[in-house]
Amino acid sequence: MRVLGIESSCDDTAAAVLDGNVVRSSVRSSQHDLHEEYGGVVPELASRDHQRFIVPVVEAALDEGNTTADALDAVAVTHGPGLPGSLIVGLSFAKALARGLSVPLIGVNHLEGHLYSVALDAPSPSRPYLCLIVSGGHTELVVVEPDLQHTVLGRTRDDAAGEAFDKIAQLFGLGYPGGPAIDRHAADGDPTFHDFPRAQLDNFDFSFSGLKTSVLYHLRDYADAERERLLSEHRADFCASVQTAIVDVLVEAVRRGVAETGAEHVAVVGGVAANSELRRRVTAAGDEDGFDVSVPALSYCMDNGAMIAKAGALRLTRGETSPPTLDVAPQLSLD
Ligand SMILES: Nc1ncnc2c1ncn2[C@@H]1O[C@H](COP(=O)(O)OP(=O)(O)OP(=O)(O)O)[C@@H](O)[C@H]1O
Ligand SMILES: [Mg+2]
Repeated sequence: MRVLGIESSCDDTAAAVLDGNVVRSSVRSSQHDLHEEYGGVVPELASRDHQRFIVPVVEAALDEGNTTADALDAVAVTHGPGLPGSLIVGLSFAKALARGLSVPLIGVNHLEGHLYSVALDAPSPSRPYLCLIVSGGHTELVVVEPDLQHTVLGRTRDDAAGEAFDKIAQLFGLGYPGGPAIDRHAADGDPTFHDFPRAQLDNFDFSFSGLKTSVLYHLRDYADAERERLLSEHRADFCASVQTAIVDVLVEAVRRGVAETGAEHVAVVGGVAANSELRRRVTAAGDEDGFDVSVPALSYCMDNGAMIAKAGALRLTRGETSPPTLDVAPQLSLD
């Protein structure tokens, strides 16, 4: 079965061809430079850019996958959650394509795409498994059940982990997206330089806005010149301290989740799953506590079309397709 996956929920226009379990191509046009000067994604600019790039990105995915559109068996597309104007571009294009080819259309929940991204170019962990989704817009601890059902154990009450990385990076004068920059600088820093707060909530919910505020207040206590000096001298130390605070909370939640559910396998997915410290620490926790850990290849952590094709193919094998009246669902959740 050959499925085209299309993703346009945020600031990446992406498409991929999945053939059975093999990713034949995965193409992404990222808009990071477009949004950098604003320090975050500007919805109007994002949807216009999707509009410009959707055709060339899909064509590149077909070319690189050595396939033509008429060899496709289905078109899978993200229909939520995400920015309405961005989702509409991908969904409208996918509908027209599926209609023109007379193949099924499958609307995919973007978060479900992330959940199954661990099974791209890798054996799928046997379900049920515990999955930590850590991305720009979401932080959720989820049990992925065998029948494509999901139980959300907890989610963030305010900022997502990626959002915390991005907002704090801005306070440090690093660009957007800030996660990769903090990861890079932290490699040379002292994680014990400053003890930033870790919010441990009673249940499995997360909160990262207190950490962001704490960084803001800490830096605000200095006069401008002094702050500049401190940041240029200790940027790596600040980055390492913040990164450790975020990773401590995430790893602790995974450990508690395993203890509570008895899960034998943990997956960590989404953009923040690219973080080197998080990957290292979750793997170490697995070695210590006796659970297996899967993280996607780096290119499948960020938003991509392959994970949408994968989730779509799983739905299609269960006979699930979407009607031509399918609408975007900007607030779609997993439960
Ligand atoms: N190495 C890294 N360390 C920490 N964070 C990272 C790293 N690489 C990417 N990120 C973060 O990942 C986020 C982007 O992830 P992703 O593309 O999955 O999110 P999104 O699509 O914006 O949100 P969502 O998937 O929730 O809709 C950004 O916040 C970015 O800073
Ligand atoms: Mg995403």
